[in-house]
Formats: sequence, C-alpha cells, structure tokens
Amino acid sequence: MDLPIALDSHLPQPLHAQLYAELRQAILTGRLLPSQRIPSTRSLAQSLSISRTTVTQSYEQLLSEGYLETIVGSGTYVCAQLPDDLLCSQQVEPSTQQAALPIQFSQQGRRLTEIPFSLPAEPKATISFRYGRPALKDFPLNLWRKLLSRHCTATPNWLDYASDFRGYYPLREAIARYVARARAVQCHPEQIILTNGTQQALDLVMRLLIDPGEVIAVEDPGYLSARRVFLSYGASLYPVPVDESGLQVDQLIHEGAEKAQIQKIRLVYVTPSHQFPTGSTLSLPRRLELLAWAQQNHALILEDDYDSEYRYGDRPIPALQGLDRNHSVIYISTFSKVLFPSLRIGYLIVPSNLVLPFTQMKWLSDRQLPTLEQQVLAEFIADGHLESHIRKMRSHYDHRRQVLVQSLKQHFGDRMVVLGEKAGLHIMVRMNLNLDAKEIMERAAQVGIGLMSAHPCYLPSNWHEPNADLDSNPNSSNANSIDRRCEFIFGYSELDEAEIQVGISRLAKALNP
Ligand SMILES: Cc1ncc(COP(=O)(O)O)c(C=O)c1O
Repeated sequence: MDLPIALDSHLPQPLHAQLYAELRQAILTGRLLPSQRIPSTRSLAQSLSISRTTVTQSYEQLLSEGYLETIVGSGTYVCAQLPDDLLCSQQVEPSTQQAALPIQFSQQGRRLTEIPFSLPAEPKATISFRYGRPALKDFPLNLWRKLLSRHCTATPNWLDYASDFRGYYPLREAIARYVARARAVQCHPEQIILTNGTQQALDLVMRLLIDPGEVIAVEDPGYLSARRVFLSYGASLYPVPVDESGLQVDQLIHEGAEKAQIQKIRLVYVTPSHQFPTGSTLSLPRRLELLAWAQQNHALILEDDYDSEYRYGDRPIPALQGLDRNHSVIYISTFSKVLFPSLRIGYLIVPSNLVLPFTQMKWLSDRQLPTLEQQVLAEFIADGHLESHIRKMRSHYDHRRQVLVQSLKQHFGDRMVVLGEKAGLHIMVRMNLNLDAKEIMERAAQVGIGLMSAHPCYLPSNWHEPNADLDSNPNSSNANSIDRRCEFIFGYSELDEAEIQVGISRLAKALNP
C-alpha cells in the first residue's frame, strides 16, 4: 500500500484514532478501493514507525464498523460494500424511485394527482397580509402551559386509548354549552364528534355520505380547501353565486338549471356566518329559504362556521343548525381561528341518526384525537378562558380592521372597494387600478408586501377537467362585469396597527394609484 499517512504524536488525538481517521478517509475518497488488500498490522506498524497495538486498535474499529473485512488465511481487505454506501442507498432521489416503481393509483389517488397541488412556499414578504392564522403572539401561552402541566402530572389516564372515539366527554359537554350560548346551536354532547380540524370533518362527510358523481352545491367564490376534498372524492360541483346577503339560494333552482339536475343535489356546502372569502352574512330570510329548499329536495346542508366569533358591530344571526327543524344540517366548527391552528381540534355536530356512522368513520380514519390537549381545552372552556380570550381578541382585531380599512381608503380612495368588513379576520378588496392582478402582486412583492389573490376561490369553468388549475382561475361561472382577477384577500389578524399602516402606504407607492 502506497499511501501517504501523516500521524502527529504532538496532537491531543491518540495515534490509533488518527490512523483510523486517515484510513477511513482513504476508503471513502476512493484512494483505497473496495476489495483492495491492506498491509498487515506488523508491516504497517513498521513502515509508520509506530507500535503494532496502535495499528491493531484502528483496524479493529474499522472492522467493527464494516470498512474492513478479514479473510482467514488471506489477510485484511477493504470491504466490497461500504457502510456509507448502504446508508446513502436509503436516500434515493424521489424521481429515481418513481422511475423504478410504476405506481398504480386508486380512483381517488388518480383524481388527487389530477388536482394541481404544491407545498406552500416560505413567506418572503416583510409585511404579509396573508389570511388564515389568528394572532399567535397574543395567545395566553402561560395559562395553556400551566393547564398542560397540571393535566400531564395528574392521573395519566390520557396516556391510554380513549374509551369514546367521539372525543373526551367533558370537552364535548363544554362545546355543547358554548355553541348553545354563542351560536344558538341546539345539540346534546352525544351529537358532537371531535375531529382533526375542519379539514377532517369535511373528509369524513365525504367518505360517509357522497358517492363519485353526486352533486354538491358550493358557494362561488368559496373555500378552496373544501372544494379540493369534494373533488378528490369525485363529487360533481354545482357553483352557486354569492352576493352581499350570502349564497343566492334562489340560484339553486334558477331557470338555467335543469330541474333534473337540481333534484340530484345531495349536499349544499355553505359558510353562512361569514362567507369565505367575500365576508357577507347569509340573511335570515335566505337561511329559512335554504332550510326549506333542503327539506323539499331531501338534501343535506353542510354549515362551516369557522370564525363567526369575530363580529364587529351587529349581532350574529343564529346558526342554520339552530334554525333547522328537519335534521338536515351538519354543523362544523374549529378552534383554529379562536385559539391556534396546530391544535387541530374541530368538531362535527350531526343529527342523532348519523352519530354512530360518523363515530365509526372517525375511528376508522385515525381512531381518536390525542387526549391531553382535549383535557386542557375542556378546562380552558369550562373555566371561561375561551370566551374571555375571544373578547380580548375581538377588540384587538376590530382595531386592526379599522386601521386597515382607513389606510386603504386614505391611499386608494374610490379606486378600490372593501367587502365583508363587519366580521372575521380578513376583508376582501376589489382594486380598480388599471393594473392586472399579476402586476399588482409582483409590484407588492418587490417592496416586501405579501398579498393573496381571491382569484383561486372562484371555480374555473373547466373545473371538471383533469389538471384544471384550481389555483389560477381564468373565468368563473359567476363572472359578470366585475374584474374578479383584481380581488384580494387582506388578512389583518397577525399584523399590528403600525405594520398595517406602513404596509398599505408602501403598497400604495408601489402601485402608484
Ligand atoms: C372557510 C374555512 N373553514 C375552515 C377553516 C379552518 O380549517 P381547519 O379547522 O382545518 O384549520 C378555514 C381556514 O382557513 C376556512 O377558511
């Protein structure tokens, strides 16, 4: 072996460790090749003028790690397959894996792969008007930590499987009382099934109630994540326009629609308390009209009540569920907006005859939610912390909302229209600046402002075609004279007043109105 090996007895590292490192490096860099014979301990010790024990120690380590192997009666060799190769072989590039293994998808898998999907990019904007999160920095973390620690150290019954897959009973009791007070929802805790947020609730509804090809009426514009679930299960979508009074219920039976098609609508998905994204509220006459329509057409209503706690000024209208006398409403809500989204606790409130099938479907899906968080949340609600947190946050958000609307008016005047400012954690803004949406987004990004287009919320006319880009909608069934491509969702919950003012002023300069 003709290898330059440099050992230095003045270094703090012992000689055997230095020799081990030198030999390992030589193997990994290919200076010593697989299956190459290496000198005996005696000859290497002689050539390096070190003791044979030193060489033996380093060889033993390399043997035990699989870099060397001994062949009895023959000598010591570099292993034919090195441990690092074995480790590397587990990190095969995803593209190579795809090529090696043709995957046969299920029908649902095929539908999924036809819906364009990408992981969200890391936000780069310094001031982002993104929507979706409450003000996480205002969350009462100390209190939550205290409750967590108390439940953690108390009798650890939370470690075990739950006995009721619907969720922790005291939490369901607390929720039943809360929704009765806050939303006029009428239910018994038995009817509540806790879910991993709204998203799982939507998934369970689809799995249990809708077959491929069956029709779901959806608000247009509407909530993209719900639409994606419906499409993945092969549902046929029936877009219904919305206006300042919410879903245009009369469009469920408008002239252009075939009577036969209307009969087939199995489910109407609505966000009546705070229509997403326009922010309108479904008026009381329309609520009653929708309930009557559902009864006549033997359809179910899926009521997504995701952030109705935040109303500024007028009183909330009772939830559809509370007005329903026909057991046709499935009510969904979540703690993502009133507490924090990673809590992943939401709930379904279902008519009594659906309790058992939904419980079974929840069990089938993921057995149960983690118990510890449910225990903490139950106490948080029962002790009044939820409602006091909501009161505090409502006042913060109200202030931020006013600052946002004022700043927009100050800088853009009548070249924009604000929609849905009476509720929620976002407003919708229709811009009229002689710039197209792409240009507006690009100019905003150049000055560090993150904007969210409302465009993907409209159902593209080609939604039923494979690979229809749900995120960039060329035209909508709801299209009229308004240029919907210039509508933006402005979330304000995460920004303080100064950030909002600076953000809008910077945006105005960039757009030069
Ligand atoms: C209309 C609507 N429903 C529900 C949710 C909450 O979903 P989840 O409970 O899965 O976090 C959101 C969140 O953005 C929403 O916009």
